[in-house]
Amino acid sequence: MDLSYSTTNIFPVPIHIFDVNRFNEIKNQLIDYTYDLKKKDPEGATISNCGGWQSSGFNIDDKDDILQSFLMNCLDGFPNIKNSVNFKIYAWININKPGDYNIKHSHPTNDLSGVLWIKCSENCGNIEFENPSGFQTYREIDSYIDDFKDRNNIYPAYFFPPIEGRVLVFPSYLSHQVQENKSDEDRISVSFNIKTD
Ligand SMILES: [Fe+2]
Repeated sequence: MDLSYSTTNIFPVPIHIFDVNRFNEIKNQLIDYTYDLKKKDPEGATISNCGGWQSSGFNIDDKDDILQSFLMNCLDGFPNIKNSVNFKIYAWININKPGDYNIKHSHPTNDLSGVLWIKCSENCGNIEFENPSGFQTYREIDSYIDDFKDRNNIYPAYFFPPIEGRVLVFPSYLSHQVQENKSDEDRISVSFNIKTD
């Protein structure tokens, strides 16, 4: 048969990736900040963590606070977001010891959510997102050749290894989990929710 063939992807799920240049210059200050907070609030909160410590949540609005101003600067001038849109950001800190992980969850009532990775050694736990249509598309996905799946990121789930100084922002409805910290050091990150208006 003489025909041409093409595909186009509609309704994609954007994952926004920010990399902070020269993160090493501030990394240790941010690490100290997180351990100071843990010392002040050793109980913390339990949200999605199994074993790990999560701080109570706080609004990101204080320019004189080193962590808050860092996060504000990262998200200021967010590419591809309209100038007229304002962000209300609410964050908390996660310290996962070796063996700790975070169970599958999403961030209801928010629009965008994200994570800043501060301290991550190898094998400290990937973040894994679940395909929101994974159930409905199971057999469809299974029928595609690997090359097509790889070129179009068509998978039941997709993971990102944590990278120090990287910020990942994703739609809040997207279900995700953090795999077990299999390194012998703490894994430190800041999670946050964004409400847009
Ligand atoms: Fe989360």
